[in-house]
Amino acid sequence: FDHSIVSLKNDKSGRSCVMINKYMDLFAERVKNMKVFDDDVWVISFPKCGTTWCQEMVWLINNDLDYESALETNLNVRFPFLELNGVLNKFNGDSVGICENQSRPRHIKSHLPIFLLPHEMFDVNPKIIYIARNPLDVATSFFHHYTHIVGYEGTREDFVEAFLSNQVIYAPFNEHVLDFWKIRTKPNVLFLFYEDMKRKMPNVVKETMTFLGKKFSNDQINKLCEHLSIKSMRANASCNNISLVEMAQKLNGKSSNNIKFQFIRKGEIGTFKDEKFGEKISAKLDAFIKQPSLII
Ligand code: A3P
Repeated sequence: FDHSIVSLKNDKSGRSCVMINKYMDLFAERVKNMKVFDDDVWVISFPKCGTTWCQEMVWLINNDLDYESALETNLNVRFPFLELNGVLNKFNGDSVGICENQSRPRHIKSHLPIFLLPHEMFDVNPKIIYIARNPLDVATSFFHHYTHIVGYEGTREDFVEAFLSNQVIYAPFNEHVLDFWKIRTKPNVLFLFYEDMKRKMPNVVKETMTFLGKKFSNDQINKLCEHLSIKSMRANASCNNISLVEMAQKLNGKSSNNIKFQFIRKGEIGTFKDEKFGEKISAKLDAFIKQPSLII
């Protein structure tokens, strides 16, 4: 692993989160002191939980199903990523400034754990949509992301071990999810699961509509579910992240080993099973999901 990743500690609680040190440090205070508005819509998650999918759904619902603008303007512009600079460490844009200066209602994506988010988040109570996913699928999806986008060259087993021992960016996973789980009943929080989006998307759409104070007909809901299907999102240049992947690969000097990597990859529940991890890793994965702290 890249040794530039270290734990960024929070002064008050002493909790930590793996971030890219030298860049995240520059942003941490700005993020903490950022102005928050009550009509902001934040989509927050641990990476690879279906964030992009959820963002597209949320943006369209909150913008009265304006497909024309959604197709015309890239999702990363409509729904910017707060700490992008901390992740793609050679990227020159000012991701915090871009998020701050959006016209309202602002739509903001972040993978930061609760304790690194702006102080005002918990006084002003903006709309927060948190999306979680089975950690074994997250680890698998993250391995492919690291390999094809970040330039990780190790084995999948080593990667999973790193995930399980909280050494990947944004780790620890458990605390990330559980901190939001604890506040899920607050009226300004909607807690979603990737697996529910896969199995019963119309219900998730309805839940999100109610949360955002919107009403649409069944036909409109069906059309939105179709727009959000994996086939349609893969073909949609506005949210399939093809250009982002290419840019990241160039910045990292990696060209994905000649494999055409799709950000919208398999999009399945139980994708970890495809990796056919050996007995040792499988036992570790099993122990990980059976930890008492993860049983909710
Ligand atoms: P896989 O790598 O398991 O396929 P994030 O946006 O948080 O990085 O999450 C990416 C994951 O969400 C990837 O998982 C991707 O394929 C999946 N995803 C994105 N859009 C999807 C869709 N429309 N349907 C199902 N899965 C989707």
